Formats: sequence, structure tokens, C-alpha cells
Amino acid sequence: FAAVDVIRAKRDGGTLTDEQIDWVIGAYTRGAVAEEQMSALAMAIFLRGMTAVETARWTGAMIDSGERLALKVSRPTVDKHSTGGVGDKITLPLAPLVATCGAAVPQLSGRGLGHTGGTLDKLESIPGWRAELSTGEITRQLDEIGAVVCAATEGLAPADRKLYALRDVTATVESIPLIASSIMSKKIAEGAGGLVLDVKTGSGAFMKTPEQARELAHALVEIGSAHGVATTALLTDMGTPLGSAVGNAVEVAESVEVLKGGGPRDVVELTVALAREMLALAGLSDVDPAEVLASGLAYETWCRMISAQGGDPDAALPAPKHIHVVEADRAGIVSTMDAYAVGVAAWRLGAGRARRGDAVQYAAGIRCLAKPGDRVAAGQPVLELHTDTPEKVPAALAALEGGIVVSEKDSTSRKIVLDTIR
Ligand code: URA
Repeated sequence: FAAVDVIRAKRDGGTLTDEQIDWVIGAYTRGAVAEEQMSALAMAIFLRGMTAVETARWTGAMIDSGERLALKVSRPTVDKHSTGGVGDKITLPLAPLVATCGAAVPQLSGRGLGHTGGTLDKLESIPGWRAELSTGEITRQLDEIGAVVCAATEGLAPADRKLYALRDVTATVESIPLIASSIMSKKIAEGAGGLVLDVKTGSGAFMKTPEQARELAHALVEIGSAHGVATTALLTDMGTPLGSAVGNAVEVAESVEVLKGGGPRDVVELTVALAREMLALAGLSDVDPAEVLASGLAYETWCRMISAQGGDPDAALPAPKHIHVVEADRAGIVSTMDAYAVGVAAWRLGAGRARRGDAVQYAAGIRCLAKPGDRVAAGQPVLELHTDTPEKVPAALAALEGGIVVSEKDSTSRKIVLDTIR
């Protein structure tokens, strides 16, 4: 094969053959297809698309570019992936909950980039906790405790690592076949028997409209089926932050409340909805996750999961050096609390990073003291901005401009799960 022929075929609207796909991904991973050639191909795919068959093969070739984690555990394995949101700490209560219900959850996660938070950054705010585990440690912890949240090993889908970095700088991220194959190559390589996808839509999500999110959800489920991994997608709202906490340590604290049987209603609702789908895929639908969550038993699993990775579940979490309070500008009902605005503000306060490799502030973030639908008085505190670097507050306030609206009427829908795609 010659790369130029593969690029030309897609540029002209053709369908790539299995052999062309296998060759181009393999050769790109080895460095035999140049970055400029893969950029051109990614742009051709962005503009022309790929069929479901091409997308499944592309995913398979990315999986085969690296290793598959062979998870030899006695329980059924099932994992969850979220397309990313603001205040999306769901993995933290969900993994120990589903483990307590009898499944094993291998949750290989990432760090935040941009306005969305990263699960590993949140957990690293727990003193002593470590994200890097060997395959042996992952398997042992899964067998003994049933839940592992850790960093993806280097060998998983290396083609995706290279291609994602390239897409990031060539305006080719927002392509449904490329996003779907990127997500699924990593998740299938991880080896879980079932997969539940939380596909978010709204201002704080990657896919701003429900139509785009639905299309992505279908593409993800089709790839899962093509690779023999039972996959379900929930389409969920990300127009407003999930729960009250956005950031790192604040999200851990809120997750612990949920694990102890309390916490915000929306976080509990989404955690239970995702747990039900995961348990159904694991063949454990007779267990009621809502009951298990309310019992506090999942909190015990959380403590074991954190301790196994060197963390102290009882240690005090980092506290911010500075808190700035944002007040309601008038009396009324909070009608908008825009997820993107709050996410960017938390990021500016130091909860996220501008470049890969930057340090995050564990204590930085936002606490929402009121949420859409809540009645507030003029001057009542609605947000607390947490940071170690108060000089960042003006940038956070600028990001929040227009993002919090108090009006006469409550026009908000507080439906979290919008649809289920199987
Ligand atoms: N997340 C991924 O892993 N890949 C994408 O392409 C987009 C989001």
C-alpha cells in the first residue's frame, strides 16, 4: 500500500477496505506513515465520514496496535465511560457501588484537559493515593475488592494516543467516527465484558446538541456490538453541573457523601441509573443498587479501594487558601447555571490545566450553593470559588459572566437521563 492512495480514496468519498485500514493504522503506529499523511487522512475522514463497518475495523486496528489487558478475575467485569462533563464525579461512587453489588469494575481513567475534569486528578487530592498500577496489581485488586480506578497503561491503543494528539492540533477532533473509535479502542483493549457509556449533551459536553450526542451514542454501541462487547449508552444532560461540587477535592468530598447514603439528588440518580445498566450487562440485575447505596456498604468498598492504592480515606482533604463568594444579583429562581461557564471558571481557578503535564490545584474548584430551580434572595450566596491563587478570581468571574441567571419563573427541566440506547 501507499499512504497517498489511501488518502486519495477517502478524499474522493470512497470506502476504505479492511486491508487499507489495518495497514495504515499499523504503519502509522510504527512511524512508517508520516504525521502529515495521517493529518490529511484524518481530515478526509472528518469531511467524508466512515461507514459503521469502516469505523469498527478502524477501532479494531487501533486495539491491535497495542496490548489487550487480560483480566482474569472471578467476577463478571463491566466498565463505564463518560464523554466528559462538569462536576462529573460519577466514577467515584459508581465503581465501589457496582463492586459492592458483585461485579468487577476496571476503570482505566484519564486526566482532565480543558474545562472538563479528570477522574485521576480528583482522586490524587487524597493524600497518598497513586494512579499508576501494574497489570498484576490491577488484576489482584479487581479480584479482592472488585473496583480499580487507575491510569491507563502505556501499551493500550498506542495508535489512538498518537492520533488523538495529531487530531488535537489539526481541527479533526469533532468527527463522530474518529471520536467513537478513539473511545472504544481504549475501552475494548481494557478487556471488560460489558460497557456502559454516559454520553453527555449540553453546554458542558463535547456534543452540544442531543442529535449529535445520539449519533455518537449509536456509533459507540455499534462498535461495541461489532467487537462482541455488550454495550449500552445513556444520553444524559450536561447543561448544568452535576451535583454541587466542581473541581478536585470538593468532588471527592461530595462522592463520599453519596457513598454514605446522602449527597445531591442528581448525582445519586445518575449513579444508580448507570449502576443498573452495568449490573444488567454483568448478569446481576436482581441486585438493587439504590438499596446498596443507601445502606452505606459501598462506602466500605470505597475505603478498601482507596487504601489498596496507598490513599488514606480518613485523611483531611486539601482546603483552599482563598474563598470568594458570588451572590445572587436579584431575588427569584435560579433558571440557568451553565455547565460550560462553571467548568471554565473552575479550570481558571486552578482545578484544571492549560497544557498536558501542568500541575492542578487539588483544593481549587467551585461549590454551587444553589442549583437550577432553587429560590434565592437578592444577595444570597450562590457560588463559592475556591483557589490557592486569589489573583485567578477575576478570570473565573469573567468566565461566569452571563452563566448564572436568576429570573421570575422556573423554566428548567431537571431530567438527567434523557434516553437509553442499546
Ligand atoms: N475522548 C477520547 O478518548 N477520544 C476522542 O476522540 C474524544 C474524546
